[in-house]
Amino acid sequence: MDNLLSMTQLQTDDIMRLIKRAQAIKAGKFEPFKEKKYISNLFFEPSTRTKASFEMAESRLGIHSIPFNADHSSVLKGESLYDTCRTMEAIGCDALVVRHAMTAYYDDLDGLSIPVINGGDGSGSHPTQSLLDLMTIYDRFGTFEGLKVVMAGDISHSRVARSNQQALKKLGATVVFSGPEAWRDKEMDGEYVDFDDAVESCDVIMLLRVQHERHGDQADFTKRSYHNQYGLTLKRYQRMKQGAIIMHPAPVNRGVEIDGRLIESPRSVIFEQMNNGVFMRMSVIQDILRSEG
Ligand code: CP
Repeated sequence: MDNLLSMTQLQTDDIMRLIKRAQAIKAGKFEPFKEKKYISNLFFEPSTRTKASFEMAESRLGIHSIPFNADHSSVLKGESLYDTCRTMEAIGCDALVVRHAMTAYYDDLDGLSIPVINGGDGSGSHPTQSLLDLMTIYDRFGTFEGLKVVMAGDISHSRVARSNQQALKKLGATVVFSGPEAWRDKEMDGEYVDFDDAVESCDVIMLLRVQHERHGDQADFTKRSYHNQYGLTLKRYQRMKQGAIIMHPAPVNRGVEIDGRLIESPRSVIFEQMNNGVFMRMSVIQDILRSEG
C-alpha cells in the first residue's frame, strides 16, 4: 500500500490483511522498527482520538513523531498544504498523516514522494476510523457476511459513514441508514429505515455525531427533539437485538446521539473502538512503510 487515502482503494483482501495484523499486534506480536523512521501528523482540523492514536501507534513502533501545530505554523503566513507537506518531506519525514477540512485535499499532493495517510478529509473519507470500526466488528462477530448495520444520524456530513458504507458493502454486510431527511446523502447507496425498527433488527447500531460545525446557517434540532426522534434512548436500548453492539466514532454529544448512561453500557464498544484504533494504525503504518517490523 503506497498511501491510504480512501476505503475505495482497498479490496477485501487488503482490509482483512490489515485487520488480522492489527489483531496480532494487539496480542503483542510486533517489533518496533529497527531503523530510524519519522512521521509528522499534520492536523488542520481539531482531533483528540485520531491524532493521539497515531502518536501512540508511532511511539509503540519506535517512530519519531515530528511535532506540527497548524495554529503556530507558516500556514498562518499563507503557506499552502502542498508546500507544508513538501517541507516535511524535505526535512526527512518518511510519511505524513494529514487531516484537513477540504474534501479530497490529497488531490493537491500528487507531487509528494512520501506516503500520505488520510486522517480525515472534510466530508469525504476517514479510512483509519473505518478500519478500526471494522476490526471492532470483526472482533465481536468473526465475520461481516450477513450482518445488518444501521448508521444513524448526520449521514451527509459524515466521512465515517461514507468510508464504512463503502467497506461494509464489499465485505458482505447490509447497511441501512436512519436519521433526519435533511441529512440524507443521495449518493450513498442504502435504504433509509425507521430507527425504532432498526434497533430491533440490526446487529450493529452505529451512531454518528451531529456535526454542528459543518451545518453553517442550517437550523439544528434541539438536543431533546433529536434525541427523542433519532437518538439511542434507554427505551430503544432495551429493545436492541440480542448480541447487538453500539458504536460511535466519537466525540459523542451526550444526550443527543446517545443517552450518556449508555456510552459505557455492556453493549457499547465505543472505548474498545478507540483502543483498537492504536493497533489498527500500527498495522496501517507497518503496511505503508513496507516493513514487517
Ligand atoms: N473519531 C475521530 O476522528 O475523533 P477525533 O476527531 O477526536 O480525531
